[in-house]
Amino acid sequence: MDALTLLLTRHSQPRLTAPAPADEALENIKQAALRAPDHACLKPWKFIVCTGKGLDKLGDILQDSAISSDKEQVSIDRALQLPHRAPMVIIAINQYKQHDKVPKEEQIAATACAVQSMQMAALVQGFAGIWRTGSYAQCPYVKQSLELNEDDEIVGFLYLGTSSMKALPKPVIDSDAYFTHWT
Ligand SMILES: Cc1cc2nc3c(=O)[nH]c(=O)nc-3n(C[C@H](O)[C@H](O)[C@H](O)COP(=O)(O)O)c2cc1C
Repeated sequence: MDALTLLLTRHSQPRLTAPAPADEALENIKQAALRAPDHACLKPWKFIVCTGKGLDKLGDILQDSAISSDKEQVSIDRALQLPHRAPMVIIAINQYKQHDKVPKEEQIAATACAVQSMQMAALVQGFAGIWRTGSYAQCPYVKQSLELNEDDEIVGFLYLGTSSMKALPKPVIDSDAYFTHWT
């Protein structure tokens, strides 16, 4: 698939099954993240790739978070299984670096670009994925369990795997609604 076709047809896929990217495919995904635009080359990111028992570990953290925030029992039960909606979850963390010219917003933008690049690298190699956040991404308990500093943020949980169903083509959006030309 050429790059333009990828960008014009990209889509997310919540229904994911094995296999997850591995070996060269996974390394390509990592390298795509590390090529994201990054003001002052701060590399303000850290990624945790969860598979197998790593998904159980993440599920335990989410469940403990649900318990600590007094969620309903149904949410507590569900939390354990959330990471198992895909064979791989990459946790994208923004590690804020103090810099005179690069505010935190720009650093988060760089990490967000890295997430998008990873998802696109997965797609072009025949895999599928979805970028999720949800309340757990902001939860202090989850951030503490992942050993984040106070200024760090979870930018996303990137669920990756193989699509278990064919996606329907999306309608083309009228670009005039969002673009103004100053000439
Ligand atoms: C920062 C961010 C957080 C998101 N969080 C969620 C989420 O928690 N749950 C969800 O279903 N979709 C979430 N999405 C949206 C999906 O990733 C996806 O873009 C959306 O379902 C639209 O599908 P599409 O990518 O095929 O257009 C999030 C997207 C972004 C950029």
